[in-house]
Amino acid sequence: MRFFTVLILSLLLVPSMAQDPDWVVPEDRKGRLSTFPFTDETRKEGERLYQVNCHSCHGDPGRNNYIALQPPPGDPATEKIQNNSDGEIFHKVTTGRGPMPSFRSVLTTEEIWKVVSYIRSFNRNYVQKVMQVITSSAYPGAVISMKLAWDDAAKLVSVIATATGETGSVPVTGAGVRLMAGRYFGMMQVDEEKVTDNSGTALFATPEGLPGDTAGNIRFSAQFTDEQTFGSVSKDTVLRAGVVTVPVSLTAKRAMWNTVRKAPVWVILAYGLGVLAVWGFILLVMLKLRDIFTVGTALQERLQASGNETTTNN
Ligand code: HEC
Repeated sequence: MRFFTVLILSLLLVPSMAQDPDWVVPEDRKGRLSTFPFTDETRKEGERLYQVNCHSCHGDPGRNNYIALQPPPGDPATEKIQNNSDGEIFHKVTTGRGPMPSFRSVLTTEEIWKVVSYIRSFNRNYVQKVMQVITSSAYPGAVISMKLAWDDAAKLVSVIATATGETGSVPVTGAGVRLMAGRYFGMMQVDEEKVTDNSGTALFATPEGLPGDTAGNIRFSAQFTDEQTFGSVSKDTVLRAGVVTVPVSLTAKRAMWNTVRKAPVWVILAYGLGVLAVWGFILLVMLKLRDIFTVGTALQERLQASGNETTTNN
C-alpha cells in the first residue's frame, strides 16, 4: 500500500518537475498590446470574467488565497504576475500551461484584455500602452487587405497586411493573424498564431512534406484573430507550397479499398478466373448447341434420303 502511495505521488510530481520554472513567452508576443484603453468599464467587466474563470484557482487578488497547485498559480496582485508585460499575460492566459488551462476557446480576445485590465487595477505603477491601430476611421475609406506568398527556399508562407485609403497605403502592424491550409476535409491550422511586424508581415512555417494536389498546390486562408478591430478580413490564396500528390501513389500498398491497379493479386486472379469460367461455360453451351444442330440436320438428311428410297421402291 505504501509502495503505491509513493508511486502515485511520484507520478504526480513528474510533470511539474519536468516543467521549466520560467514560463517563456515568444518574443513577438511579449509586446502585444490591447487595442482599446482600459477604463472603469473594462475593469468591471474584467472583474466579472475573472470571478467566473480565474477566481477558483487564483483567489482574490491581494489576499494570497490562491489554491495549492504545483506550480502555484500565484496572486495576480503580486509581482509574480504584475512583472509580466501585457502581451505576456495575454499569451499565458491564451495558451495555458500545466494545470493552468488555455482560454483560447473560452474567452474572446476582447474578454482576455478586459481580464488583463482588471488584473492591472491592482498595480499602482502601471501605465497602459495602447496599440496604434489602423482602422477605417484613422484612414478614411481604408480597406484592409492581405496578400499571401510562398517562399520556397525558406518553406515559409508570408502574409502581408495593408490598409489602403485615400491617403495611400500603410502596413497593418501588431495584428494577430491565423493561417489555415485546406485538407481533404476542412482546414488545418498552420504554425501558431502570428503577429504582423512593422512592415505588416507575418511569417508562417509549414510542416515538412505537406501534401498538395497533383501540381503541389494548397489552398491557404489567412484571417485576423482580432475581428473586433479589423473586421472579418480574410484572404484565400492557392500556393504551390505542397508536395505533388498523385491520388493513388505507386508506392501505396495493394489493398481491397484501392483502385484496380492497386488491388491485391488474389482479388484480380479470382475475378479473372470467375469471368473466364462464365465465358467458358457459355462457349461450352454454344458448342453443344452446334452439336445438336449438326446431329439434327444429319438426321433430317438421312430421313429425307430414306423417304426418297421408299418412294423409289414403290
Ligand atoms: C485550474 C486552475 C487555474 C485557473 C482556472 C486559472 N489559472 Fe492561471 N495559473 C494556474 C497555475 C497552476 C499557474 C502556474 C502555471 C505555470 O507556471 O506553469 C497559472 C499561471 C497564470 C499566469 C502566469 C503567472 C506567471 O507567473 O507568469 C497568469 C497570468 C494567469 N495564470 C492568469 C489567469 C487568468 C487571467 C485566469 C482566468 C481567465 C486563470 N489564470 C485561470 C492555474 C489556473
